[in-house]
Amino acid sequence: MIPQSARFRPANRNVLRLLSGHCLMALSLAILVLAAYAEPSAADSLEVELGRRIYREGILPSGSPLKGLRLGSIEVEGAAAACETCHRSSGMGSLEGNIVAPPITGRFLFATEDNRPTALVDVSAPKNVTRAHTPYTEQSLAKAIREGVNVGGRQMSPLMPHYVLNDAEIKAVTAYLRQLSKDLSPGVGDDTLHFATVVAPGVDPNQRKVMEDMMRAAFSQRNASQQNYSGRMRMPIDLIPRTLRNWELTVWELQGAPETWGAQLRENYRRQPVFAVISGLSNTTWAPVHEFCSQEKLPCLLPSVPLPPAETAFYPLYYSRGVALEADVLASHLRKQDNKATRRLVQVYRDDEVGRGAAQALTAALRDSDIKLEDRVLSGQNPSALKEALTGLSGQDTLMLWLRPSDLAAVGKTVKQAPERAYVSGFLAEDDYGVISKDWAPRVRVIYPYEMGDKRQKTLKLLNAWLKTWSLPLVDETFQSEVFFNLLFITDLTSQMLDNLYRDYMVERAEDMMSLGSNVSAYPHLSMARGQRFASKGAYFARIDQDGQLAADSEWIVP
Ligand code: HEC
Repeated sequence: MIPQSARFRPANRNVLRLLSGHCLMALSLAILVLAAYAEPSAADSLEVELGRRIYREGILPSGSPLKGLRLGSIEVEGAAAACETCHRSSGMGSLEGNIVAPPITGRFLFATEDNRPTALVDVSAPKNVTRAHTPYTEQSLAKAIREGVNVGGRQMSPLMPHYVLNDAEIKAVTAYLRQLSKDLSPGVGDDTLHFATVVAPGVDPNQRKVMEDMMRAAFSQRNASQQNYSGRMRMPIDLIPRTLRNWELTVWELQGAPETWGAQLRENYRRQPVFAVISGLSNTTWAPVHEFCSQEKLPCLLPSVPLPPAETAFYPLYYSRGVALEADVLASHLRKQDNKATRRLVQVYRDDEVGRGAAQALTAALRDSDIKLEDRVLSGQNPSALKEALTGLSGQDTLMLWLRPSDLAAVGKTVKQAPERAYVSGFLAEDDYGVISKDWAPRVRVIYPYEMGDKRQKTLKLLNAWLKTWSLPLVDETFQSEVFFNLLFITDLTSQMLDNLYRDYMVERAEDMMSLGSNVSAYPHLSMARGQRFASKGAYFARIDQDGQLAADSEWIVP
């Protein structure tokens, strides 16, 4: 029950009446103006737009903030009062604490017995589904929004605010809800669900092949098992009726310069729209793919890339910030050291997208510190370049090597004597530490973004067993574990979405589920709070032991 204080008092009602007169005028004026210039449907789309602003941004047509009363008499206003905060941008709802904010799209609100959709309401309790209710009418919906009384006459949880909205504003919200997540997203066919993966030019052909082979194997496994609920699909939710759709994979292989990738992606997409892009491989930039996903409103889940764009967006999700994360881990470690320990830090990197990105990230992370940072850039394959880059180092210098295995191998051959301390990027070293010379190895610390030792073996057991069943090779453990995690993740994700195949909903579910699924990746821990876009947030420092294996030399560091 809602305490008396939560209900609107006469004063509020007056405000409400005042507001309604004002806003109605503004709204009808706007509609008149628009209708004079455009087709009749323009008035409808204006109404939807006004509803969208209330729902997404908490802004009323008059430009004033949306107001609601929550939990008794706490006033919420503007963006904090926007319906989206609880019912999410898809309208498919969420779990607030342990209270369900149900789906409120037109499909759910106005559903009748013969066309009732079903959604899971709690990611951690897959048996908990939406309950049937009598279809809402415009009147009962207004009552729910203003007074918190649902269509069944029940006073709802005080979490659902009571809103001060006039009739025109209620109509606008209703118009918005009617079209929200109404049609299934592009890439969802009657009997097929289309996915793509993206391969950038210049990647290791073995990695590319093993990724595609793993994805094809998982897709055929999933397509075979959906009819007979075999394999891992034997959970209660698999018994909820749904449309059976075959998964289909397209590989979008990019060519040429990154400036041309956007056009290639759009052309691929035009030929076959997909529901989501999953995994993907690049050893250079990923920015054009990131932009494409944002523009198309296309979930792009967990590609294996060394340097995702720093600026996040709603649709692209990443395992981590890559080399930029390593830069932050190193900087926070060096800053904590006793001041004298590092006088000069020399960073060596290749003059390419990733090298420059890593160096910039470290420069930014060490700004305003006492550490003197010096850049040494390698370009071309000339062996003298490396020699030059490493000259003039003294024993007290600290080195950061943003280098891949072939360059790391050359380092020890070029300069016999290692400085006091040399750090190596785990993302770039590709788990190939045997290439580091015997003289250097004891002084090297690897910034290592993955789990090590027994714990890692334990989580990767499933991957290894699965690869065996499909006779697939183990080419690159950390990379393949990323692909494997992603394949299980989207299997669970789409299975929990039932027939509600909307892209926004997929991203929202992905956030919620990231930490709940079994972690079969080489990362120690994956999670994504709402709005976060990087699932793993730290790294270890590791030593290289006699047989070229890594051993942790620090706790897991989250900068
Ligand atoms: C702070 C969280 C929160 C916000 C913001 C919020 N809601 Fe809700 N809403 C809830 C919760 C929780 C429920 C379920 C309460 C219950 O059933 O006891 C709910 C229920 C509803 C229902 C009833 C659905 C049904 O199945 O009967 C409607 C309709 C609704 N909300 C519309 C809105 C609209 C429109 C807005 C924005 C103007 C909004 N809500 C903003 C939390 C919220």
